[in-house]
Amino acid sequence: MNATARAQLGAQELKRVVFTEVMIRRRVREMGRDIGAWYGPDDDVLVLGLLKGSFVFVADLVREIPRPIQVDFILASSYGEERVSSGEVRLVYNPRAEMAGRHVILVEDIVDSGNTINRLVPLLLDRKPASLELCTLLHKRLSHPKKEPRWVGFDAPEEFLVGYGLDFAESFRHLPYIGSI
Ligand code: IMP
Ligand code: MG
Repeated sequence: MNATARAQLGAQELKRVVFTEVMIRRRVREMGRDIGAWYGPDDDVLVLGLLKGSFVFVADLVREIPRPIQVDFILASSYGEERVSSGEVRLVYNPRAEMAGRHVILVEDIVDSGNTINRLVPLLLDRKPASLELCTLLHKRLSHPKKEPRWVGFDAPEEFLVGYGLDFAESFRHLPYIGSI
C-alpha cells in the first residue's frame, strides 16, 4: 500500500482489498458497453443512480455508455450506522426527471438483502417507465430480489465492503478500490 492509500485510510485498517482500481475500471467499461448495446437507437434512456452509495460508480459508468442518455439520482434512506439492514426503505429525494415512457436504469452500489430493490421497484413502476432495468456494481447473492439486476459488476463475498462509494458510517466512500473491514 502506497502513501496516498495509507493517508486515505487514516488510522483505520482494511482486512483486505477485494476489488482493485484496475479490476473495477475494466469491468465498468464492459458494463457500459453492454448497457449501450441493450437499447435501440431511438430509446430515451434515463440512468437513475441510487444515492449515496452509487455516486462513484455512476460517474464512471455513464462515461462508458456509448449512446445518448440522461442522468438523475434518487435518495433512499440507508442503514445509518448499523451494519445490518433495518428493512425500511424511504424515498428521501424524488427525481424530478420524467419517467413515463422512458427506459429507466436504476443503478445500485451493492445488493445485499434485496430490500432496497424490492421497495424501490414498485415505486418506480408507478411512474410508468417504458422499461425498468437494474444495474449493480456488486451482488452478494444472499437474496433473490423480486427483480434481478440485468447488469452485475461482480459477485461480492459475504463481508462488509467499503470504498468506491460504499461506506461504513459515512467513511471510506472516497477510496478508489473496494476493500473489506
Ligand atoms: P439491501 O437493501 O440489503 O440489498 O442493501 C442495499 C444497500 O445497503 C446498499 O445500497 C448499500 O448502501 C448498503 N450495503 C449493503 N451491503 C453493504 C456493504 O457490504 N458495504 C456497504 N454498504 C452495504
Ligand atoms: Mg450505505
